[in-house]
Amino acid sequence: MPVPNQAARAAALRCELERHGHAYYVLDAPTIPDAEYDKLFRELQAIEAEHPDLLTPDSPTQRVGGKPLPEFSPVRHVVPMLSIRTETDTEASGAIAFDGRVRRELGLTDVDPSLEYAAELKFDGLAINLRYEHGVLVQAATRGDGETGEDVTQNVRTIHCIPLRLTGDAPPVLEVRGEAYMSRPDFERYNEKQRTLGAATLVNPRNGAAGSIRQLDPALAARRPLSFYAYGLGETRDWNLPETHAGVLDALAAFGLPVCEHRAVVQGAEGLVAFHARIREARDSLPFDIDGVVYKVNSLVLQQQLGFVTREPRWAVAHKYPAEEALTTVESIEVQVGRTGAITPVARLAPVFVGGVTVTNATLHNEDEVKRKDVRIGDTVIVRRAGDVIPEVVSVVLEKRPAKDLFGGEPLHPAFELPKTCPVCGSTVEKPEDEAIARCTGGLFCPAQRKQALLHFAGRRAMDIEGLGDKIVEQLVDKGIVETPADLYALDMAAVANLDRMAEKSAANLLAAIAKSRETTLARFIFGLGIRNVGEATAKDLARHFGKLDALLAADENSLLQVSDVGPIVAASIVRFFAEPHNREVVEALRAAGVTWAEGEPAAVVSSSIAGKTFVLTGTLPTLTRDEAKDMIEALGAKVAGSVSKKTDYVVAGSEAGSKLEKAQQLGLTILDEAQFMELIGS
Ligand code: IVH
Repeated sequence: MPVPNQAARAAALRCELERHGHAYYVLDAPTIPDAEYDKLFRELQAIEAEHPDLLTPDSPTQRVGGKPLPEFSPVRHVVPMLSIRTETDTEASGAIAFDGRVRRELGLTDVDPSLEYAAELKFDGLAINLRYEHGVLVQAATRGDGETGEDVTQNVRTIHCIPLRLTGDAPPVLEVRGEAYMSRPDFERYNEKQRTLGAATLVNPRNGAAGSIRQLDPALAARRPLSFYAYGLGETRDWNLPETHAGVLDALAAFGLPVCEHRAVVQGAEGLVAFHARIREARDSLPFDIDGVVYKVNSLVLQQQLGFVTREPRWAVAHKYPAEEALTTVESIEVQVGRTGAITPVARLAPVFVGGVTVTNATLHNEDEVKRKDVRIGDTVIVRRAGDVIPEVVSVVLEKRPAKDLFGGEPLHPAFELPKTCPVCGSTVEKPEDEAIARCTGGLFCPAQRKQALLHFAGRRAMDIEGLGDKIVEQLVDKGIVETPADLYALDMAAVANLDRMAEKSAANLLAAIAKSRETTLARFIFGLGIRNVGEATAKDLARHFGKLDALLAADENSLLQVSDVGPIVAASIVRFFAEPHNREVVEALRAAGVTWAEGEPAAVVSSSIAGKTFVLTGTLPTLTRDEAKDMIEALGAKVAGSVSKKTDYVVAGSEAGSKLEKAQQLGLTILDEAQFMELIGS
């Protein structure tokens, strides 16, 4: 028999863990440190292990724990799960046509006022029905054929943002419908991990979501992390329904369910068109895939009046965007040599419009990936371009592979082989056994690496040499004029004016820009060296920590590990870089060429009123550029994030600030204009 105290403690822990989980996974605003959460979690686990009768199905310890299933059991939907009509006209006319149809059905004429709609995103995942009884998640099912789905409760429990118990006064029965999806960062992380393991990657986030949900072993499902957004209802009992769809979503959010913040109540066709356009702009920067937006008549009474045609409601429509995947053919497969010698196979494609842009190249990532996908010249392939990521070849349409003769048989082109030597410099290509990436061993002897290294050195966030673009670097390297970054500072008018397409004025400008770059900061200098695994943020940490270049040059792995955010891999990269005599020579040559910066005191701890705070910049500021504002913020020990969340401390907004500003207002964050920002930082 459990001690009553233990029962109460377990209940309290469950409640507290659920609350912190909701803050972390749904609101994106952690309330306690991870370690503290883990401690409470372990305490609950210990109590439950000692008193198994205290274990409840809604315990946060029960998210993963089930055994693999032989098969999924069927679930009959009390309220059928219908689909919605898709408007394939991706222009504004698609929205206008929907509004017109609804008005006609309702017998409205031009003199009647405009209708109110709830506009939301069309998530690209898998439809799921969650059944809560007395606030506890008892079952999760897929849509199936709409009448009968499959019981996927075990796998859905692994989705952290889905509450196992609702907060507030939940009705005795509440079925919530929504989409389980894989976020882009989770998708990229999963694929990156698979690639380094040489294992199969997911084709796209939607397949990732479907595969994870339909996985019989819940432990495997848990390894492919999913998220969820609620967008509607199934069966409800004894619930006083809100009057509008937007009201339903608000109520679901109040129960602790994740509801996407990108939604709006809009008026008439005009409002729908504006929403469609606004989300089209935001689409690339969303952390998940959408294939369109959804419009729903907001009033539930009107929804009922409109009813259904065949299996689709008349009151809703999905309005699409151009697809993020398309078919095209591979014209050739080339390999590119990166700054660190990484050899990346790239498919040259017949131009194709996908994800809103024309794509002619797609990455094939690495040799293993090309082999696994077996991409060959002449193949018809699916390319994907979603978000800001580089387009990639998803898969080959094998039926369309050209054959040597008409009757099938042997393929026309052989399987891809990675060259044994660097296509640029002829050095050996090496691939360590435990790595997926092959590299040219030529180092800075390899012109391709030299060019990339120079471009990186001259980059805006490094030494910021304006006008030193790829065409010029290409010539400087190919003509043997420049070998290392230090050679840039020896360039003169005679050498520069001789380059193709270089007018006298631009030659003078380039020389002036090079001269100007001599005066820099230690962080920019370190970043500009192009040390593997040392990005801009790490370079800043190193500069702050060591203060002086010589202190960094003298550092061993142990002292590097003292730097915040520097781990063993980064530390080893740095040591390896400076152990290379050639790299030391370049550093010394740069100093000799007059490159200077103000040296600071080591590990000067920044103490400013904004140290440790998170800023988001949006819109155009009247006088500061984005980079200038970012530099000022970082110099004071604060950081700049790309998107607004509850964790954001300040949003600095300029003109034409869009959805970020809107979100900041919704969250009630502190919003500053440029003048207020300057005042805050005391500048
Ligand atoms: S409402 C009766 N809202 O799109 C209306 N569906 O054919 C039921 N979907 O696979 C659907 N985002 O899973 C609705 N905001 C959204 C949606 C959405 C994605 C999916 C849904 C289904 C398909 C509808």
